[in-house]
This record gives sequence, structure tokens and C-alpha cells, in this order.
Amino acid sequence: MIEFKNVYKSYDEKTYVIENLNFKIESGQLIVLVGESGCGKSTTMQMVNRLIEPTQGTIFIGGKDIKTIDKNELRRSIGYVIQDVGLFPHQTIEENISTVPLLCKKDKTEVHKKVLSLMGTVGLPYDKYAKRYPKELSGGQQQRIGVARALANDPDIILMDEPFSALDPITREQLQDELLRLHDELGKTIIFVTHDVDEAIKLGDKIAVMQKGKIVQFETPEELLKNPVNEFVEQFIGKNRLWKTPEMVKAEDVMNCTIIEVNPNRSVAQAIETMKKHNTTVLAVILKEDGVSNKLIGIVGANRFHGITDNTIKMKDIMKTDFIKIPKDMALTEVIRIREENNIMYSPVFDEHDNLIGIITNTSILGVLSQIMPKSEEY
Ligand SMILES: Nc1ncnc2c1ncn2[C@@H]1O[C@H](COP(=O)(O)OP(=O)(O)O)[C@@H](O)[C@H]1O
Ligand SMILES: [Mg+2]
Repeated sequence: MIEFKNVYKSYDEKTYVIENLNFKIESGQLIVLVGESGCGKSTTMQMVNRLIEPTQGTIFIGGKDIKTIDKNELRRSIGYVIQDVGLFPHQTIEENISTVPLLCKKDKTEVHKKVLSLMGTVGLPYDKYAKRYPKELSGGQQQRIGVARALANDPDIILMDEPFSALDPITREQLQDELLRLHDELGKTIIFVTHDVDEAIKLGDKIAVMQKGKIVQFETPEELLKNPVNEFVEQFIGKNRLWKTPEMVKAEDVMNCTIIEVNPNRSVAQAIETMKKHNTTVLAVILKEDGVSNKLIGIVGANRFHGITDNTIKMKDIMKTDFIKIPKDMALTEVIRIREENNIMYSPVFDEHDNLIGIITNTSILGVLSQIMPKSEEY
């Protein structure tokens, strides 16, 4: 775990470029620092490997104050990838990747094996690329080597400062995907700096939004999108972005939480009265069981009354019993697909204890979408 405790940085005694940072990064997480240019992202990151020393406050890694760790030792134990890679031009790719482990006096044969495997990991086979020089590689390939080099000494932590910012969009997407795969595979703690919100949302387990040397919100991408703490975050993240990433909208976000219940033995006439009274078009038919929580046994939408002439018919005779249960965290995109495929009007939503917590209708979906969709004048 990495922890920042009351960390400040100033260069001129008057203004803080970093002001009272307090946050924790769990091991194995990929954390993104995002914010406008000059807000303090690189400074924050470089305090972790002591390229920059805080003016005040303490940074802990695994509970240890990093001031007590030898600078060089610390730096070699943390991978570091920057935008313009910084490969040594007069060294081959193999030499570039081997530098730090050899400096740490690791066994040569082991280091060679490591280079071989890492080059495979980043998609540049040893046989083809190891003896080349950096300038014989494309920008994207150089950046892959930058990542391999950062991994060469088996660090637990990797710092990445806008590593993909100079790459074309397609290469950039590829490297982002590969980083996610690598992170899943290797489980390293990664701090990733970017000024690009899309990149932050794509990569981050959690995102720290920075403004003028402070972290204004440190949350999961979903939380940031749904509940920005203030207008700055909302503007910066972009209110309409949720619409661009509809898979982040979950069933529970679009359900109607007011469930109107009806007993299976109620008649059509009684049910219509209940619907009118509660201004709803759907009823949940609930079986009251002694000692057991109430059980949903059917759904009656107003459409079920169509063509019925005898309004003494009971709910249990006309209710829909083959309803499809929707778990509360199912993505809206999936909910919509299921509803379309099965031609469903009413979808009951259940929590992890199989309790009915809401019902999704077209109206409830539209209600939410209309709030998060871009306004027409913004097209
Ligand atoms: N050596 C320095 N002396 C004075 N000010 C600095 C120095 N390094 C960075 N700064 C200032 O600190 C602030 C944060 O910089 P930085 O962390 O590089 O921002 P970011 O990476 O978010 O673009 C900026 O306003 C920058 O001008
Ligand atoms: Mg920077």
C-alpha cells in the first residue's frame, strides 16, 4: 500500500504546488491521476520515487516512511515510464531493458531470460528486436520497450507519467488494452498520470481528479461519473460522458423503486382501482408466506387486462409468471437487450439476497436517460 499523509510541496515558500494530499493506494490497484496541465500530477508521482521531495508530510510504502529508504534503492525498486520513453540511444533494446537489473547485480543469465520473456510480454519478439537500437523502432514500439524496462527489475509499483500521450490514437488504444491485460496478469500497483479523461476512465480502478495541487475526488470511474463532488469535477469529467459509457449505468439506476403490491386473490376490478390510486401500470403479485419474506410470484401490467370481460377474474389467473429476474448490478445495455429479445414490458429487479427492490419499465429507463443524455443543442 502507498499512503500520502499531509503532503505539501512548494518551491517558493508562498504557494503550494501540492497542498495537503491525503490518500491511500491499495496494493495491486491501477490508480489514475487526472487533471489539467500544471495541477501537480507529475509532482505527486515523482514524490513516490523521491525524484521530488515533499516540503512537508510523509509518504509510506508498505507502512515504511520512504525518507528512510535509500533513494537509489527506492528508485530501482519502482518501475518508471515517461512520455518520451528515455531509452538510451546508443544501447540496444536488450541493453536498455537489462540496465537496472544488472545495476542491481542480478545474475546475467537470469536477466537475459527476463528480457526474453518481457519482450514477448510486450509483443516485440526477442529474436527480431533485441539487437536493434531505439531509433529503429516506432514510437509505439519504443513505448512498449519502456514498459518492458520498467518491469525488468520485478517492481511491485510502476509509475507511468503520460506514457501514451505522444502516440497516435490507434497505437494508444492498443497499448492501453495491453496495459490492462498486463495489470490483470501481473497484479502490480500502478500509478498512471494522464490529462485525458477518456484514458483515465478506461484504465483506472480508481481515479484521483486533481485541481491546483489538491485531489478533489478520489473514486471509482462509476462513482465519479454518477456522483461528481462538485461542479469542477462534473465539468471536467463531462456530464454527458455517462451516456458515452452506457455500460456503466446499472439496472438499479433505472428501476422504479416504488413497488405496488397486490394479493394473488385480488380481482381485476380491485387491481384496476389499486393502479389508479397509485398512478401505476404495473403490480407485483406477492404471496404472503408465514415467517418467510414476501415472494414475488407474478407481474401484472395493465396490458394483461386487455380483452378481459369478466373483472372478477383473479390476479393469480392472469399474472405473468415467467418473468425474467434482473440482478441490480446488470448493465443497462444488457437489460435493454434482454427486454427487446423477450419483448418484456416490466422487469423486476432483485438484490443479492433475492429481494425484489424495483421494477424497470420503458418509462423508468427513459426518465434516467433523459437526465444523462446530451442536450440537443450540444450536438
Ligand atoms: N522546479 C520547479 N520550480 C517551480 N515550480 C515548479 C517546478 N516544477 C514544477 N513546478 C510547478 O508545479 C506545478 C505542478 O507541476 P506538475 O506536477 O508538473 O504538473 P502536471 O504534471 O499536472 O502538469 C506547476 O504549476 C509547475 O509550474
Ligand atoms: Mg506532468
